Amino acid sequence: MATNPTFQLFSASNDKSSSQGLGFFDSPEPPRPPPPPPVEVFSSEVSSSVAFSVDKVNIGQVTLLKGRVNTKEVFGLPNSDLVPGVYEGGLKLWEGSIDLVKALEKETQTGNVSFPGKRVLELGCGHGLPGIYACLKGADAVHFQDFNAEVLRCLTIPNLNANLSEKPPSVSVGDKEVRFFAGEWSEVHQLLPLVNDGETGTKGGYDIILMAETIYSISAQKSLYELIKTCLANPNGAVYMAAKKYYFGVGGGTRQFLSMVEKDGVLASTLVSEVTDGSSNVREVWKLSYK
Ligand SMILES: C[S@@+](CC[C@H](N)C(=O)[O-])C[C@H]1O[C@@H](n2cnc3c(N)ncnc32)[C@H](O)[C@@H]1O
Repeated sequence: MATNPTFQLFSASNDKSSSQGLGFFDSPEPPRPPPPPPVEVFSSEVSSSVAFSVDKVNIGQVTLLKGRVNTKEVFGLPNSDLVPGVYEGGLKLWEGSIDLVKALEKETQTGNVSFPGKRVLELGCGHGLPGIYACLKGADAVHFQDFNAEVLRCLTIPNLNANLSEKPPSVSVGDKEVRFFAGEWSEVHQLLPLVNDGETGTKGGYDIILMAETIYSISAQKSLYELIKTCLANPNGAVYMAAKKYYFGVGGGTRQFLSMVEKDGVLASTLVSEVTDGSSNVREVWKLSYK
């Protein structure tokens, strides 16, 4: 790990330990090391050795809990560092995941989306707030994916547990299927329980895929997009994606990702919300669905 260069990532939300800068990489992305093999992480594998504390996050009318762990304790890295192909930033809460929960709350209120009975996948989950929101809103199954098994063990699982233990008594989560998968986007479909059957697209698939701040790296976008098409229920599945319009220094962003989606011609995109709060780059939430 020590031989890998580290990079400042973009600003994280509500995280006093994070960089406030907008820059990504100071130089072009270096080649990535081979990814760790995909694994399912079970709730029972929750870390008991890494210190975990929670803060409240008010997102519009929704209050969720956000766990906090020390990057150094988990990965031996100073806070704010991201090491491409080794640690992909999942221990921080990024602005996009707050934007996504806000957008989902609006979509729920206007009846554009509803979670009861739905199978949900959160890609690049980190804290997992959008997936936790889906769980609290009645989704039947929520599967969380992160690059790093350590993020799932030390942060996602305890964060889900903390939020569930605070839920109002009217919300029942006892019968939900909640599962956790670690792995690179080009490989993790081998483990995900709900994928389309390639030929007719009628078997399985996730009704809703959620993702926030996952499209910053151009080199990973193709495999992320292929994973989405492998996993999204056809024809009624929908993806909600929160991201910055442009990630300075690395070239990723919504414009560039959506142009790939448009060229492919399978999914249509609609802008759900735009955030221009003056503190950062323009941020957007997009919905993708089959044409
Ligand atoms: C910047 S973090 C965002 C975390 C969280 N969604 C948020 O908004 O707070 C990017 C996330 O995508 C995941 N990720 C990035 N590149 C990946 C890749 N090539 N394969 C699998 N997961 C990846 C990371 O593990 C991490 O959870």
